[in-house]
Amino acid sequence: MRRSTTRSVTRSLSRSGRERSALDAAYDECRHLVRTTRPTEHALMQLMPPVARPACWALYAAFSRADDLIDSTEGTPEERSRRLQEWRVALESDLASGTSEDPIRLALTDSVWHWGLDLGDLLAAMDAVQRDDGRTGVANWQEWRERAHSQNISWPEQLMRMLVRVGLPVPVRLRDLPGFTRFVDGLFLTDMLRDLREDLDAGQVWFPADVMDRFRVTPADLIAREWTPEVRELIAHLTGQAREWLEGSRRALRNTLPLGPSIVLDSAVELFGAELDAIVRAGSAVLHRPVRVPRHIEWRLLGPARARAAVVWRLTLPPGRADAPARTAAAPATPGDATAPDPLTGTGLPTTRIAEPPLPPRPHRDGARPPAIAEAHLPQHVAIVMDGNGRWATGLGLPRDEGHRAGAVALRDVVQGALEIGLAHLTVYAFSTENWKRSPDEVSKLFAIMRSELLDGELLDHDVRLRWVGSPDGLPDDVVEVLRAQEHATRHRTGLTLNVCVNYGGRAELAQAGAALARAALAGEVDPARVSEQLFAAHLPHHALPDVDLLWRTSGEIRTSNFLPWHAHYAELHFTDQPWPEVDRLDLWEAVVAYTQRKRRKGAASAAPAKGAE
Ligand code: FPP
Repeated sequence: MRRSTTRSVTRSLSRSGRERSALDAAYDECRHLVRTTRPTEHALMQLMPPVARPACWALYAAFSRADDLIDSTEGTPEERSRRLQEWRVALESDLASGTSEDPIRLALTDSVWHWGLDLGDLLAAMDAVQRDDGRTGVANWQEWRERAHSQNISWPEQLMRMLVRVGLPVPVRLRDLPGFTRFVDGLFLTDMLRDLREDLDAGQVWFPADVMDRFRVTPADLIAREWTPEVRELIAHLTGQAREWLEGSRRALRNTLPLGPSIVLDSAVELFGAELDAIVRAGSAVLHRPVRVPRHIEWRLLGPARARAAVVWRLTLPPGRADAPARTAAAPATPGDATAPDPLTGTGLPTTRIAEPPLPPRPHRDGARPPAIAEAHLPQHVAIVMDGNGRWATGLGLPRDEGHRAGAVALRDVVQGALEIGLAHLTVYAFSTENWKRSPDEVSKLFAIMRSELLDGELLDHDVRLRWVGSPDGLPDDVVEVLRAQEHATRHRTGLTLNVCVNYGGRAELAQAGAALARAALAGEVDPARVSEQLFAAHLPHHALPDVDLLWRTSGEIRTSNFLPWHAHYAELHFTDQPWPEVDRLDLWEAVVAYTQRKRRKGAASAAPAKGAE
């Protein structure tokens, strides 16, 4: 089986027999390393489709190697630092050349080339591991999290990238999924507790200093392996914290992933939960030896998961994809320079990456198909107030920005649904002029989410033309740049026009039109006596926007909140109760089908012919 999975894991050239057996041996070594040092992670990797497992071992082994070089007790700190530096330089040159003398680097290089993994992101995560060298600890949970995320989010995202390559529509940017970073926090803290002995051997303590202070424990107490009541309480607190994060993230992530990755995620929560139980049972031994889950518990948890995963991969992956890797000529993605002038357009706008040709819409995760609605019956323009992000997040005990992150994921799905039914215009209210009243922290996080969605998210991978509706006044330059650059990059697309309202206010828009008309009258270009609705509309800042046919607001509020007062004057209104993060394309389709059943009289005495779903 393994031979067949690594058979074609070569760069674009085919390898000789000798090279292939070196590669097989390299993957075997990675697998051995993961299985012996991290049995829980190894067991979880066995839940992935067989085709992706060798790359999982390689990715994990490479990170463990970097970690081990730092934690090693061999030689002076300077020697350790030099060894790590050399390993990192060699890795980068191996990745560029496509081969290596070192088995772990060979397997990683091969995986990166074969699967088209994101090299820039991987190296950044390696660099984050390297930054631990010479560092003595972290001050608080915030620093602790920055360390955890910078080192540990890249590689699970690379696993998602592999699933996409074998034909499973999964979100690649896991960091954008609400609750995912909490999941990483839970895993990282559990890992830190179960292998506490290793850190203590190296004279290191990575728990936040302020938490240690709260429990009146010093790093020296831990390094001396003193099992005092304070140390006992500290460990109990940390195991409780890790458990809360794991369970909380499971609740937040429920229903956001397709079945296969959900099985892996659920099993990870169960297995790491079992590790926490083992840590609690181990008591003072946690300071002296690595804690492992007893084999019989691991089997009890994993047996059913393995059986389910095997069936699910067989049913959800396109035939033949689980076992035989699809060859990709794709070179690994390199970090883009988002601010360099665009050599193609010479516009000086940031360089952006959009898929050319655009990809077809991604299917719904449950395979739902769009309703058949004749083009003549479709609304031409649907506008949405994506409300309820903040309340959704708060209800789950998450910070408000997690709600916006989840909202962006919901928008991705709704856009897929709009493409599937052939909608011409979709307008979304992403940031109103009133939203400046929120905390600066929430506002800046929301802008960061929008930027990364527009630059790296899947929205513009499809036949979507982006239009920005709103004012640049007060917006950060990097947000304006991305909006303008992506408008420019997608200007020839003919599918869906996605109008994003960022820094938009309806009354301000009307006032601007009034001012433009007044200026034109003063200049003698317009006769005030002849100002008509058409003339007024032509002076609106976004005069190309068609009238809204259907205006939908989520989360139970029944008002339109300064959204498109001119364009939505005759819109059919649709209000639903669910918060925006819980919406997907099925809700858009439901709204559109309801619209087709409305009678649109537009002031006439008798009803215009009702539109109907076919
Ligand atoms: C309203 O919910 C939502 C927003 C102010 C932001 C919506 C933005 C996104 C979903 C990201 C869009 C991304 C792109 C690329 C356009 P709220 O926070 O007002 O919710 P609350 O009423 O519960 O507080």
